[in-house]
Formats: sequence, structure tokens, C-alpha cells
Amino acid sequence: MKYYITTPIFYPNSSPHIGTAYTTVAADAIARYHRLRGDDVYFLTGTDENAQKIVRTAEANHTDPKIYVDGVVKRFKELWLALDISNDDFIRTTEERHQKVVQQIFTKLYEQGDIYKSEYSGWYCTPCETFWMENKLIDGKCPNEDCGRDVELLKEESYFFRLSKYQGALLKHIEEHPDFIQPISRRNEMLRFIEGGLEDLCVTRTTFQWGIKVPFDPKHVVYVWLDALINYISALGYPDGENYKRYWPADVHLMGKDIVRFHAVIWPIILIALELPLPKTIYGHGWYLSKEGGKISKSRGNVQDSFELIQRYGSDAIRYFLLREMQVGSDGTYSEDNVVERLNSDLANDFGNFVSRSLAMVVKYRDGIVPSPGQDGSQEQELKELSHEVKINVEKRLEACDPATALEEIWRFVARCNKYVDETAPWALAKQEEQRERLDTVLYTFVECIRVMAVLTAPFMPGLPPRICELLSLDESIIRWEEADQWGILRHGIKVKKGEQLFPRIDISQYTAAEETKTVDQDQNIDQTQAPKETSDSVPALEFEPIKEEISMDDFAKLDLRIAKILSAEKVEKTDKLMKLEVEVAGVVRTVVSGIAKHYVPEDLVNQYVVLVANLKPTKLRGIMSEGMILAASQGEVLEVLMLNKDLPGGARVK
Ligand code: MSP
Repeated sequence: MKYYITTPIFYPNSSPHIGTAYTTVAADAIARYHRLRGDDVYFLTGTDENAQKIVRTAEANHTDPKIYVDGVVKRFKELWLALDISNDDFIRTTEERHQKVVQQIFTKLYEQGDIYKSEYSGWYCTPCETFWMENKLIDGKCPNEDCGRDVELLKEESYFFRLSKYQGALLKHIEEHPDFIQPISRRNEMLRFIEGGLEDLCVTRTTFQWGIKVPFDPKHVVYVWLDALINYISALGYPDGENYKRYWPADVHLMGKDIVRFHAVIWPIILIALELPLPKTIYGHGWYLSKEGGKISKSRGNVQDSFELIQRYGSDAIRYFLLREMQVGSDGTYSEDNVVERLNSDLANDFGNFVSRSLAMVVKYRDGIVPSPGQDGSQEQELKELSHEVKINVEKRLEACDPATALEEIWRFVARCNKYVDETAPWALAKQEEQRERLDTVLYTFVECIRVMAVLTAPFMPGLPPRICELLSLDESIIRWEEADQWGILRHGIKVKKGEQLFPRIDISQYTAAEETKTVDQDQNIDQTQAPKETSDSVPALEFEPIKEEISMDDFAKLDLRIAKILSAEKVEKTDKLMKLEVEVAGVVRTVVSGIAKHYVPEDLVNQYVVLVANLKPTKLRGIMSEGMILAASQGEVLEVLMLNKDLPGGARVK
């Protein structure tokens, strides 16, 4: 069976965060599950680069849009790698393979009369990249939940797409295909919206040039949403590509609730107009909200560096948290405390503890050799039946794009396994020679339970199977979905190890203490994303920090700024922002920890001359004593260390 699943293509106007990551992790778990079942899976993600807000952000950063997006796209790809995302392709809408398909489709729709030229007069929200009629605005602002930002008045010659012509066909399709828009609450919302009447959609802009040009009228660029939606087929090589023939229509387009409307209206109408099959399901999940309430988003200043989180807790734990915490149809709450709580209770206590406890007993009572089991009792029967029930439920939940309940199901099994240890009390059996066979059965069952747990959790935490297989001295061929509820799969006689805890418990206070040791200036360099900003998600206006209070010459003279030569540079382990530098100043070597690692590779820093605040009180950062601070300028995502040419020696004063 083929299975095609997509995420939205993300705007690379700012780095990805934990909220953005949810959709991709969820799609990955579903894709992995289908692969484990033996399906021929195609999993697509990518970036939506032709938006007006990209131009604005690049301008604000004094850079070219393409250079800007190249940098951010790199961050997306790095994050997906760090989160073990198994996408088969990554489409960028600035790629030629995409652009030519958009131009071809635009021309076809124009030639068949579905696109026509007229004039647009109305409002546009650049952060949401959405056109609005005046009567939809709320207090003159964008009416989108979570936006409410200023809109701009547009009056320009434009091409329009005849959505109105296809309203009836779209409604008919939705009514005849109950699974087309999911979950049901979003389906109802969409039905109400479409029944309210569809207006023709403005599908070109002339006031900027960044984007895909209309081939027969190149002063127009194609509206970003028309362009973006086409990625789902351009990536497959529409119209003649093998992948297109094999994988289209998509089985699931997964996305946040904010963009269901575009997928449930514009996209199917494009496809209907082209006489192409429609995707089977458009699934709109909720949002991750911060503890204080708002959506996790860059504009709210409530995003946390995802790379740092992954380094701290591991990709599997972050994936587990994201997938477990967001209940179907609702929003989820993200906070680092919640992550630690889940990690400690579900992963360390329930899952990890069972694995380490049970393997420790096989080691203790049978020298690590898995014994041949005797006759099953009622408890073993119960475990088997439960594994069967859980497997079926997990399948149903994943088919319904609901990883949270799927995990809840698996944890029913994990809890039963823990109970089994207490009920069977192997430590008591071990004291009675006549219970030898019973102990063999229990120990064998333990290891089978671990195998079942490893198979069931594999789609969600792909880092686990190799670690568990290593403990069982087996290879990953034991991770077979269809065998998750079959017993007696493991051979007796294999040798297991106790190994390390799969999920060591975390004491969150160690991190909060480390945060407090940061100096104010270093904070700004290290974690710009933490600073609450009023700027928009999408279009960070060029906001400079206010000039600080006046100081006297004497105050300034207190600063001892020196030229320092960088002798060596290396990234600090378990952080992605910090770089450890050895610098030479006035003949003395010092260690400086600096928040520049996202912007420089170590090799580019060695032998450079930089400016050091030489009389700054030393402070500990991630356990390293930092003796001073190097100067850097930053605005938005861009950061540059102040470097001098080499005519001045290390130690020279900067005044
Ligand atoms: N570029 C469009 C999508 C075009 S698809 C043809 C876009 N991009 S976006 O960068 O704004 O990403 C939106 C998606 O990111 C949401 O639909 C959702 O999948 C994900 N999320 C962004 N913030 C999120 C949360 N706080 N919580 C959950 N998902 C979030 O819209």
C-alpha cells in the first residue's frame, strides 16, 4: 500500500521552534508507523519561501531574501535531523522544479478561464499572507485568531481565481467524503465557512518582485498561497513524474488549525479545476500554547531554543512530550517543566524503570541468559491479550492522526508490565528451588514485554529500538510491527545486559540555576528568542534597542577593552549557542565562553583578532569559567563578532 503524508511547508522567515516542530514530529511518527507496517511511504516537508514577509524580514536584516532564506532553511533541516525526522524529500518553493509547475498550472487555469484579470482593492495582512474584505476586519485589524495585526490597503491590477464557480463542487465533495476534513470540529467549521459563500481570490501581486512570475505577464508574481499549495504535487514531479503517478493523491495533509481554510478551499478547488484527484484527508491539529496561554510563536517571544532542548533531554524525550501532550482536537500546553515531568514520570519511572528492573533480574538470577519459559499462567495470558488490544488501538489512533491517545494506549501496556513485576515478585520465586520454572517463565516474559514495548514505541521514539536491541544483543530485525502482539518471538538463550538507564531522571533545578549565572549582556547574545518582542511573527520590524542612559567619561573609562587573539575555538557540548574560546591578551591566555556558536564555525574564528571586555567579573557558563566577553553586534537573526585586522597586537587597548 502506498502512503503519502505531508506537513505544511514552513515560512523560513524565522528559525523553527517547538511549536513548528509538532506537525513534523507527528507526521514523522505516522510515516514511521506506516513504514513499519510495510507500506510504501512518501513523507514530504519543506519551506514556503516566496512570501512577502520574507522580503520584509530580509530587508529588516539588510540582506537579500535568498541569502536570508538559505540561512533559515539550513536551521530547519538541522532541526529535522536533530529530531530524527525521516522525510523522503524537502521541497523549497524557490527551486526550479517547483516554480515551473506553478507557472504551468497558472497558465492552464488562465487558459481555461478559471483565472481572469481585474483589479484588487482591499486589505492584506502580510504576517498571515491573507487578503481580507473590509467587513471581515476587527477594529480595522487582521481578524485571524492569534494575529490582530495591522493590515495594509492594496489597490492593484491582479489576476483572480474563480473560487465561486467551484463552491458547489467543493461542498458536494466534503459532504460525500466525511474523512476529507478532520477532526470533525474543523469539518463543521469549514462547511459553515464555505456555505457562507466563496469570493473569487486575488492570486497575483505587482507591488514586489520576489516570487514566481506569471509567465505571460511577468510584472505579476503569483500569490504565495496558490504557489505554496502546489508544492504537494510539484515535489512529486507533477504531471509526468513517477512519484506523482505513484503517490498522488495524498493520504494526509497534516497541519495546524490556522491553515485548514487554505487547504480545505483553495487547494481542492485548484485540483477540481485541473480535474485531479483530491487528497484523502486534511487534518488540522491544535496549537502548542505557552503556560501563560498564547500560541507558541516567535512574535510572542515565548519560544525556546529547540536545539538546546534536544541536547538537554534527547530527541526521543522531546518527541514523546510533543506527541503525548497535545490531545486530539484541542491545544496543548508547552513548558519545560511539563517536558521534565513527562520525562521523569512516563519515560524514566514507567518505561525505563521496567526495562532496567527486569533486565537486572535476568542478569541476577540467570547470568543474563534469557531462559526457556515454562507454561504460561493467567498473568501472561492477560499481558498477551492486552498487547493485542493495545496494538489494534494504536493502529486506529494513528490512522486517525491522534498520536497522543496512541501513546496513552501503549502506556496501558507499560503500566501492566510494571504491575506484572510486582505481582510475580521474582525475588521471592528465586528463593524457592521448586519455583525455578515459574521464574524462567517470568524472566522470559519480561524480555518479551521489552520487545513488545520497543516495537510499539518505535514510530514515536526512533532512537529507542537500537538502544533496546543493544541491551538484548539483537539486531533491529526484531522490530516488526506485525509481531508486536505475538509472543514467543524471542529465542531463549540470548544474553541481555543491564545497561544504563534509558531515561535518567532529570532535576530541572540544575538548568534554572545555570540560567541564573548568565550576565545580562551574555543573555542577549545567548538567547535572543527569549526576549519578549512586540514585533510580528512574520515581519519583525527593524526594531533597535533603545539607547541606554547617559554615562560619564569616567564610567566609560572603567571598561577595559582589549584586542585579543583567538587561539582556539570549540563548541560547548550540550548547547548549540555557546562557543568556548581560548584567547591571548597581553601575553596571557584566557578562556571565554561566548554565545556565538550559531553564527560561526570554530575554524573561522581561530587567529582572528577580536575585542574583549577584559575586566568583566568572571562567571561560570555551563560549568566553564568565562573570563571576559567578546564584543559582537546583532540585529534580528544576524550576529557579527567585531574583528580587527592584524596590525595591532593582542593586548592593545580599545578606547
Ligand atoms: N507557509 C504556510 C503553510 C503553507 S502549506 C502549503 C504556513 N507556514 S508557517 O510557518 O506559518 O507554519 C504553520 C504551521 O506550523 C502550522 O500550520 C502548524 O502546523 C505549525 N505550527 C506553528 N506554530 C505552532 C504551534 N504553536 N503549535 C502547533 N503547531 C504550530 O502557514
